[in-house]
Amino acid sequence: MLNKRSVLLLLLAVQSVFAEVPIKPVPSERLSSHNFIENQLPIAEQTHEVINVPDTSFVLISQMSNSVLLKAQVDTHGAIQQLGAFEMENSTAALHGLAHSQRYPGKIWLTLQKANKLVLIDPKTDSAQTTPEVVQEIMVPTPGNGPHYVGEYGDELWVTLQDSSEVLRISHVNTSDYTIYTAQPRPIFIAQHPLNNMFYTGQDNSASIMKIDPTTGVTTQIAIPADAGKTPVGMITGPNGIWFTLLGDETSGTGTIGHIHADDTVTYHKLTSPLGINAALLHLAFDLDHANTHALWLLSSSIINTNALDTIIRVSFDEQWQTIKNEDVMAMPTQQCKAHRVLITPSNVFATELTSSKLLSFYTTNL
Ligand SMILES: *[C@@H]1O[C@H](CO)[C@@H](O)[C@H](O)[C@H]1NC(C)=O
Ligand SMILES: *[C@@H]1O[C@H](CO)[C@@H](O)[C@H](O)[C@H]1NC(C)=O
Repeated sequence: MLNKRSVLLLLLAVQSVFAEVPIKPVPSERLSSHNFIENQLPIAEQTHEVINVPDTSFVLISQMSNSVLLKAQVDTHGAIQQLGAFEMENSTAALHGLAHSQRYPGKIWLTLQKANKLVLIDPKTDSAQTTPEVVQEIMVPTPGNGPHYVGEYGDELWVTLQDSSEVLRISHVNTSDYTIYTAQPRPIFIAQHPLNNMFYTGQDNSASIMKIDPTTGVTTQIAIPADAGKTPVGMITGPNGIWFTLLGDETSGTGTIGHIHADDTVTYHKLTSPLGINAALLHLAFDLDHANTHALWLLSSSIINTNALDTIIRVSFDEQWQTIKNEDVMAMPTQQCKAHRVLITPSNVFATELTSSKLLSFYTTNL
């Protein structure tokens, strides 16, 4: 005689023998995964710029508040393996800008903003601990003061003098050959237009960009309309022109990128994604493969607006670089770090964090 429980078990057993819930493999492709490495650096009040040493596994980082140059050897994911730290001149010299030399491959130009000097160094990449060597030293001519950005263009260096609001052109092979251009407060970066060869500098305390014609010495100001935004900071040469970011002010970002065409007209591209639209855009760099990817990387920063998110943003354009097709916003793991500079390498994206003494590496994997 079967009791109730036995009947139930019997029924379940019969059911499982005849179960027809089908299970089958389905496609399992995924979009790429995002990976972040937060490299802690020696503590400094302000960590500023980062540059790679071409054809090596080294990156250099400037810590301005104590004038320390960090030499970091990184793996292919941007994780620091070895690190050396070197005070440049003295603790108040204010090491700031870093730039590649083409004339002296592997050498790096740097600025000592308070010591008012431009210095070419051999970073010495046999080991992270080897002390870099000075190759050439150039005093900024008076009345120039406070070099921030330096860039090498053939025999010449172009330099923003942040503290005297001027731009310096100086020959590094004949330092008596120089010109100082008066700017509005305060020139930050300089870039040379790929089509008209003029030099442009963004003045972050003026809603204006200065154009310099190096052959005539004539300077002109290109005003930034208030509805586009304000505070031009990051400025680089790129496809079909000069590209720059507008940071905004203490209370709001702009989410706006500018593109200066050969005739000085400017197209403003506004981000539209929820985290992009008000991004406080400080710096930018083109994808190394931008001819194919049409991608531009941006850094949004809490540097002047503590409510702004610190993010890395990848935008991709159409083939004519006229319209933004896609925006991908990645929040940096440490917020309120005043994200400062972005550097693209073949395998990863670096970002410096000004106040948290970190070098962030971001990379994607497709597994
Ligand atoms: C650093 O060097 C400058 C000269 O370039 C000097 O005026 C200054 O006093 C020095 N500062 C320190 C802390 O040694
Ligand atoms: C260096 O530049 C100065 C100023 O332009 C010029 O007078 C001088 O002839 C130049 N020297 C050489 C060796 O070219």
